[in-house]
Amino acid sequence: MAEAPEKNLALDIVRITEAAALASARWLGRGAKEDGDGAAVDAMRNSFSTLHVDGIVVIGEGEKDNAPMLYNGEHVGMGDGPQLDVAVDPVEGTSLLAFGRPNAISTVAVAPRGSMFNPGPSFYMRKLVVPGEARNEVDLDAPVADNLARVARALDKKVQDLVVFVLDKPRHKQLIADIRAVGARIQLHTDGDVAGALMAVDPRNEVDIMMGTGGTPEGVLAACAIKGMDGQMLARLDPQSYVEKEAITNAGIDLREVLTVNDLVKSDDCFFAATGISGGDFLRGVRYSARHAVTHSLVLRGKTGTLRYVESYHNLDRLTKISAVPY
Ligand code: FBP
Repeated sequence: MAEAPEKNLALDIVRITEAAALASARWLGRGAKEDGDGAAVDAMRNSFSTLHVDGIVVIGEGEKDNAPMLYNGEHVGMGDGPQLDVAVDPVEGTSLLAFGRPNAISTVAVAPRGSMFNPGPSFYMRKLVVPGEARNEVDLDAPVADNLARVARALDKKVQDLVVFVLDKPRHKQLIADIRAVGARIQLHTDGDVAGALMAVDPRNEVDIMMGTGGTPEGVLAACAIKGMDGQMLARLDPQSYVEKEAITNAGIDLREVLTVNDLVKSDDCFFAATGISGGDFLRGVRYSARHAVTHSLVLRGKTGTLRYVESYHNLDRLTKISAVPY
């Protein structure tokens, strides 16, 4: 007999990212990073408390001493459902939100307990993200020109047609020069490499590849989605300070190891949701009308690879009456 379909948690967790996006979008462009993030954290925490899961935050807002809610190790959910590792980023791109720039999103991923890579003391990771067609073609240690040539061939494009997402950081000066030298096109973004990674694997988006160093927690979050979309992320921890490097080495972690999406999230039974906060070419931002707020989200189930784009109309008057957090 066929196995009965299990509950699709993606449709539960998208309610959580929607709540966080709705709460934080009020802070768009207001120059207040902490307030925008705080609103999202409150809404996300509140929403998690209604979910029938037994979750432990693996990727959260930081250590308990600094983060009052959604800290690493915190138990979330009602405690009576599947045992899960939980990764959250209530606002991925806090500066994008604070300055009204595109592609601030709210994201959550869940996977069976013990299956998510725990970043420990690592803050930064070098990443190479490619779509499914190129997933066996790239090598993290190959020259930039070689990887671009291989991806172009896999996508049946010219190198000059490619669009590479790169975070606009001083550490990427050489990377940007190498990409320009072979004539590929570049999108430079100040922040937001979860959105960048997803744009690289989303066939609807013009971005073909993401390259460069960004947050390690963001890498694990993105890996849940990349897995579901059949793409690949190759990554290596890339400490940006002596203190970070020492802490990783002291924790016995091998800095040379190349991690794949399957190392970052061991189980296929993972779920990912993201909701747009500010508008962008990845997901639309929250739009308000007289009585409603409209959100756009992407939800993914790793096991089946089903990707859904969800447009939701939220009745703000009613939400405000029943919710513990303001909208
Ligand atoms: P925040 O939402 O925590 O501000 O992170 C934004 C971000 O741009 C991530 O997308 C990225 O992985 C990381 O910061 C890069 O870190 P840094 O800005 O220190 O280079």
